[in-house]
Amino acid sequence: MSKLITNIKQLTQIRDKDISFISAKKMDKLPSISDAYLLIENGVINDFGKMSEIPNFGNIETINAKDKIVLPAWCDSHSHSVHTGNRSDEYMQRIKGASYQQIAENGGGILKSSSQINAVSTDDLYTESKNRILSLIKQGTGSLEIKSGYGLNYESELKMLEVISRLKNSLPIEIKSTFLGAHAIPKNYKKDDYLKLVIDKMLPDFIDKKLVDFVDIFCEENYFSVDDTKLLCNKAYELGVASKIHTNQFNSIGGIKAGVECGALSVDHLEVINQDDIWALKQSKTMPVLLPGCSFFLGIDYANARNLLNNGIPFAIASDFNPGSCPTGNMNFIISLACNKLKITSEQAINAATLNGAYAMGVSKKTGSISKGKLANLLITEKIDSIDDLPYYFGENLIEKVLIRGEEIN
Ligand code: NIG
Ligand code: FE
Repeated sequence: MSKLITNIKQLTQIRDKDISFISAKKMDKLPSISDAYLLIENGVINDFGKMSEIPNFGNIETINAKDKIVLPAWCDSHSHSVHTGNRSDEYMQRIKGASYQQIAENGGGILKSSSQINAVSTDDLYTESKNRILSLIKQGTGSLEIKSGYGLNYESELKMLEVISRLKNSLPIEIKSTFLGAHAIPKNYKKDDYLKLVIDKMLPDFIDKKLVDFVDIFCEENYFSVDDTKLLCNKAYELGVASKIHTNQFNSIGGIKAGVECGALSVDHLEVINQDDIWALKQSKTMPVLLPGCSFFLGIDYANARNLLNNGIPFAIASDFNPGSCPTGNMNFIISLACNKLKITSEQAINAATLNGAYAMGVSKKTGSISKGKLANLLITEKIDSIDDLPYYFGENLIEKVLIRGEEIN
């Protein structure tokens, strides 16, 4: 199956296929061709170049992208998009002054989502999650990492991971599965006993069942410590699974350094960082993943993206879609927020939401840039003046067409 896109005003984020992420220094550029074409063969980017040099491809299906920009689909490397129900009641409690931590201490928060997951059937969870993700795909998400972490017991963590596995098989986008059993301490458990269950039983069993691409832990005061993080991530590493860690959301307790030492693929949140954290990230291959939607919704600090860039540290941005701290997975909005609140340019935000996002979920060999041989996971914008229009019109979705493996999503 061949498909041609012609008259593209700007074909953007063109990279050599072997580049796995964009360094801090290069994040302010989006290599582009103006007045371009792009050829898709069997779901893969086969060729692209200037319209003035377009070969004769014969009579093939053609999309005319005159006045429109074409770029890679969003790579959302941090989400909890498998969940059921919502926590809008807690949202109102927070509006009235309660904090996220106070709500959690009173049995709400992650534990509330956990009781909802315990009560739902696998089939219902699958259907609800699939519909939620289909709407993300229509908004431009072409790769999505999804975490467990609301089960908090063997059966329900397994339920979540099985749902993610079914989603991988039924949806056309790239999906990666992260086991986040160590998300919170379930009621009636001592932390060490629960962590032992996660490390000694759940982790090896779920890896054996081929349900785990990555492992995650919430490294934070009142949740899991730096030592807990090292125990889990080192065990996962021994079993051949890399980690992606929730850390530095409210306090800097050493989770970043622990993550880097365990060879973590990413360290996520980073609303609160100090100089030791910066030192740990410099020279490491661990990608920081910033989640501005969470800061927006909880009203907490935004990550200091400019500080990372000034220190030569690249980053990805992701949605953190979840019912407690960011009930949207709309990456168009996340990109607007990133520009506005992290004080970064459209180019930096798009690099963070495409190739660097792909790296942070282990799919950058397949997607995240316009490269020959990568998947034709593409966004075609409406008629716009420049790439800056995307974040500028916040709350709008200026994506006219989404192509996943070359197929248009309706
Ligand atoms: O990334 N911080 C920990 N976990 C999620 C929120 C989970 C929840 O509140 O349901 C996060 O923000
Ligand atoms: Fe999260």
